[in-house]
Amino acid sequence: MSDQKPDYKLSLEDTRLSKRWVSWILFVAILTLFLIVPMASLVSDDAADALRGSPLPSDNSWSSGHLSKPHRIPELNQNCQVCHVNAFEVVQDNSCLSCHDDTNHHFDTSMHDITKLDGSRCASCHIEHDEPSSIVRQDDKLCSSCHADMDKTGAVSTELADVDSFGNEQRRKRNAPHPSFKVSMLVSEGKADAMTWSMRRVALADKPLEKSNLIFPHNVHLDPEGIDAPEGNQVMQCNDCHVTDGAGQLMRPVTMENNCRSCHTLVFDPDEPQREVPHGDPDTVLLTLEEYYSRQFLRDSLGRNPTPQEVRDFILRRPGGTVARRAEQALNLASPWGKANSVGKEIFEKTTCKTCHEISIDDSGKYLSKWRVDPIRITKKWMPKSEFDHYKHRASDCSLCHDGAGSEQASDVLMPDLPVCESCHTGERTHENKTPSSCVSCHQFHSPEQNDWRQALESGSARKIIEQISLDWQQDDHHLATDSRAVIAPLKP
Ligand code: HEC
Ligand code: HEC
Ligand code: HEC
Ligand code: HEC
Ligand code: HEC
Ligand code: HEC
Ligand code: HEC
Ligand code: HEC
Ligand code: HEC
Ligand code: HEC
Repeated sequence: MSDQKPDYKLSLEDTRLSKRWVSWILFVAILTLFLIVPMASLVSDDAADALRGSPLPSDNSWSSGHLSKPHRIPELNQNCQVCHVNAFEVVQDNSCLSCHDDTNHHFDTSMHDITKLDGSRCASCHIEHDEPSSIVRQDDKLCSSCHADMDKTGAVSTELADVDSFGNEQRRKRNAPHPSFKVSMLVSEGKADAMTWSMRRVALADKPLEKSNLIFPHNVHLDPEGIDAPEGNQVMQCNDCHVTDGAGQLMRPVTMENNCRSCHTLVFDPDEPQREVPHGDPDTVLLTLEEYYSRQFLRDSLGRNPTPQEVRDFILRRPGGTVARRAEQALNLASPWGKANSVGKEIFEKTTCKTCHEISIDDSGKYLSKWRVDPIRITKKWMPKSEFDHYKHRASDCSLCHDGAGSEQASDVLMPDLPVCESCHTGERTHENKTPSSCVSCHQFHSPEQNDWRQALESGSARKIIEQISLDWQQDDHHLATDSRAVIAPLKP
């Protein structure tokens, strides 16, 4: 009995099929099922739709993972060919640009002859089919591949310092620590209407001065003993004047109306503390004074309060001709105009407006337009090349980053420099419980001020921005080495 074969089959040898045959049959079956059948999708959109509706494997079976969350929309989830236009070809920039047609470069591509654009590498920085990771790569290499050594990228005479990572503790080992910050601020030149403004970019280390034309000493107002306010002594806090905007990133503008006027009224006649001039155009202020003193003048002459019409008629009937002129001169200071003018001189040149404003005076003998308030431009975004969010730092005291209480002049720049940030933030990997931060935590890439990607592609002015980085990545054997993902490989072992 022992040499008799059982009549059930235990192994391949028991069948008439050889090992090799089975391998081949299985291979062809898999090839047919998962390559040839889905390839029908490439024939036409109709075929693709029909396949996806059938129980047969469609091009979905080629997918190496879910699409990233923002892309999980029907147009993309069911239409692989929107991105994979030609089989066995890397995803082209043009596919991405068909929807993201407003994508910009981050530097002036006509200025810098960075290696060539091959039209295919949005995908070098934007990962697909790799949930739950982000669609944007988060590692420093993304940026340091160029920024660690700007000369090597071919950037033309750039003034940008080299940067390879952020954080104090690595500084010893690094060639290119993050540079100290620069601020971008508005600076005025000239006077009054002829004033021009320009954006100046200055290193904080050079102790720059701002010129907004507003006069404001922080220290006087932040006196810990408090200052005089209508309701008595008040100790002011930063958030009496600075509150975050809707998004929580920056601060709402400080205004005279909301933040100053409660204490600094625009009273001009000590006998009538209820009356104030309007805050704004100096000519309107002067005309208001003129009306006010005309009314007073008429009241004294008529022995009763004049009607508004009487005031207007009086103002419009301006004296002319020699007789009248002599009469006007006789009235001189006593006249409403003289009074308005002298009060104007007082508030514009000595007290009220002069407290907070730079005033330009035109001495050419004009009555109106004699005083001009120099325009005010308060810098809003001091660090436009990076992102900052006050809301995310609400646990910290303002004084950790801004020496408000110590500032005597509005021209002081109160922005924090690198060491302040490095006390909490470190490079892409955490260290000493510090907050890990890669370049993209603080920086954007696409810059709305630069030319758009498609234009650069079409004009050829931009070169292969990415070729350089892809090369670096391969050399580094980076886990996202693009060449292995570059081609759609449906039959993975
Ligand atoms: C939003 C664009 C987009 C869509 C839509 C898309 N893919 Fe991809 N796919 C990519 C990108 C980008 C890569 C990375 C390859 C590269 O660098 O070009 C990729 C790679 C692949 C790879 C190779 C993966 C690897 O790890 O090597 C396969 C397979 C693939 N896609 C299948 C699919 C299938 C199937 C669909 C439809 C369900 C699909 N893709 C839809 C953008 C897309
Ligand atoms: C069919 C149109 C379409 C195509 C093609 C497409 N996308 Fe998108 N993409 C979208 C939509 C829609 C969103 C979601 C937009 C949003 O949330 O504001 C999105 C979001 C994104 C985001 C994230 C935006 C965010 O705020 O998080 C990135 C990055 C992105 N796409 C890159 C790409 C890349 C790279 C390609 C080419 C491989 C590509 N897209 C192809 C439609 C498309
Ligand atoms: C060198 C890396 C890099 C390349 C190349 C790149 N991106 Fe981005 N992209 C980023 C980074 C980093 C962000 C996130 C920061 C930001 O919003 O600027 C981003 C954000 C985006 C966003 C969402 C934010 C936005 O600006 O609307 C879209 C959409 C996008 N990229 C599309 C593209 C497309 C399309 C291409 C190719 C034409 C491309 N990107 C090439 C790095 C890159
Ligand atoms: C292909 C090379 C390359 C890559 C990749 C690259 N950059 Fe740049 N970057 C440049 C060049 C070139 C300039 C312009 C230099 C100049 O104008 O002097 C620049 C300028 C900048 C500037 C200054 C912008 C300005 O307006 O002055 C910042 C900030 C910056 N890059 C950050 C980044 C970040 C963050 C990343 C990664 C998401 C990145 N870069 C990726 C080449 C690159
Ligand atoms: C009475 C209102 C007021 C108070 C209170 C106040 N500020 Fe200001 N702050 C201003 C005004 C007005 C400006 C604009 C001055 C300019 O630059 O022309 C300003 C500007 C700033 C700026 C940006 C300008 C720069 O040069 O960097 C910072 C930062 C700032 N304040 C921080 C603080 C901090 C911190 C506190 C609390 C310690 C504080 N401020 C309290 C009115 C105030
Ligand atoms: C809570 C009341 C209060 C508010 C609100 C206030 N101030 Fe003052 N401010 C004062 C007092 C009181 C003084 C006089 C302090 C002194 O001379 O000792 C003063 C003085 C000044 C001075 C003259 C400083 C000097 O050295 O003589 C300027 C300029 C000024 N304030 C501007 C402003 C501006 C601009 C705002 C709004 C952004 C503002 N103040 C908001 C109470 C206030
Ligand atoms: C306590 C300080 C203070 C006093 C006093 C003051 N202003 Fe202002 N003024 C401001 C501030 C702060 C701004 C900028 C923010 C805003 O528009 O409220 C401003 C803005 C202006 C502007 C607009 C400037 C521009 O370029 O946008 C004019 C014009 C002006 N003031 C005129 C006057 C006149 C005229 C007086 C006197 C009657 C006066 N101000 C008194 C604080 C003051
Ligand atoms: C914790 C936040 C933070 C991180 C992380 C960070 N930066 Fe910055 N970076 C800044 C700030 C803030 C500025 C100054 C902003 C400005 O100039 O408008 C700046 C400025 C720059 C500049 C302009 C320097 C110049 O000379 O004008 C470059 C280039 C730059 N960063 C590149 C990088 C690169 C590359 C990385 C990653 C290796 C990185 N940064 C990481 C915050 C950061
Ligand atoms: C962790 C550091 C940090 C802290 C804490 C901080 N700031 Fe700032 N602040 C910054 C930086 C960085 C900028 C420049 C942001 C930019 O231009 O992108 C800034 C800008 C400002 C500006 C000028 C720009 C604007 O929005 O008007 C004011 C005013 C200001 N901060 C006030 C405050 C006040 C008030 C507090 C406390 C409630 C505070 N900051 C807390 C770092 C900080
Ligand atoms: C007291 C510690 C501390 C200091 C100082 C500090 N940060 Fe932060 N920062 C944090 C923490 C904690 C977070 C994370 C908050 C969150 O995610 O809600 C953060 C988040 C950020 C973010 C958002 C990044 C992200 O991924 O969410 C940026 C950008 C940033 N910080 C920039 C700066 C800059 C620029 C400075 C210097 C001017 C600075 N920080 C100083 C603690 C700090």
